[in-house]
Amino acid sequence: MNELILTQPDDWHLHFRDGDMLKETVPATDRCFKRAIVMPNLVPPVTNKKQALAYRDRILSAASDTSFNPLMTLYLTNKTTPATIREAISEKIPAAKLYPAGATTNSEAAVKGIESLYPVFETMSEVGMLLLIHGEVTHSEIDIFDREKVFIDQHMEPLRRRFPNLKIVFEHITTADAADFVLESGERIAATITPQHLLLNRNDLLVGGVRPHNYCLPVLKRNVHQQRLREVVASGSQKFFLGTDSAPHAKHAKESACGCAGCYSAWSAIELYAQVFEDLGALDKLEGFASFYGPDFYGVARNTDKIRLIKEKWTIPDQIDLPVGEKIVPFFAGHEVNWKLAR
Ligand code: NCD
Ligand code: ZN
Repeated sequence: MNELILTQPDDWHLHFRDGDMLKETVPATDRCFKRAIVMPNLVPPVTNKKQALAYRDRILSAASDTSFNPLMTLYLTNKTTPATIREAISEKIPAAKLYPAGATTNSEAAVKGIESLYPVFETMSEVGMLLLIHGEVTHSEIDIFDREKVFIDQHMEPLRRRFPNLKIVFEHITTADAADFVLESGERIAATITPQHLLLNRNDLLVGGVRPHNYCLPVLKRNVHQQRLREVVASGSQKFFLGTDSAPHAKHAKESACGCAGCYSAWSAIELYAQVFEDLGALDKLEGFASFYGPDFYGVARNTDKIRLIKEKWTIPDQIDLPVGEKIVPFFAGHEVNWKLAR
């Protein structure tokens, strides 16, 4: 097969950042994706309707494709109220993001004591707003490789029981435990999976030296977990869909004594997913994962435009120059990729 025609995909989890960075990140995504769920972890975070709509306008000003549709999210804090949610849903903001405090980049403002947000979840459930969860506990005594599993036991199980009608996306899952939790849950719980968690495991982070450009959160896990994620996407299950978690950080911020978490994958995202599905002998399942199950879960129409991928080898560049004089090392820099998006 030398060509793949797919319904235009959407990216159900990414980070655009703000300001001049948008001139880089938005075109990188709208070259391929029609819609994107935009994470709200700016500084300060996007916590209400007004901020979300203003951020949406800034994103649209940077788009290279005028039909691109950024879908905004609210950042839940201990100050979020049911009224915040009602105002946002009236502006068609489809989702709110739960970061446990300290879980990841810019999450200091986030939620302490998830139970205190139960009235907010009640309202979300009522009005049909999705809850997007960064599923990791942050207690210092829990090993970083176990944080997702412990989060399932401590928080996902109670949430599933208490809010049977709340739609929850378990974001960027990394473990067999999370995949199995999602599979065992009813139709209101689904998950996104990133390219890095399908392509890599923790050896790729640590063997032969520390690889800061493979460092993201939740951190890469053992190969058995990677294998389970590959299995569930190859199975064609509708509970798993595309969310790149593309998260740019400047080269110097990643190549540092305390390098930050995030892989910037937007320029090669659909191509890398195609490669994974091809390696799995499951190219026929790519379109469901990339283009159908996300909109189906969010309750919006599937896209009608098509994209074309051609089989042509190319190498992901070693770095990208930013307008502000900084550089970014893209995810999988220097690696050869078999598929290319046709313009
Ligand atoms: C993200 C970021 O940089 O904003 N980093 C990451 O490793 N994925 C935050 C997040 O999604 O956890
Ligand atoms: Zn993210």
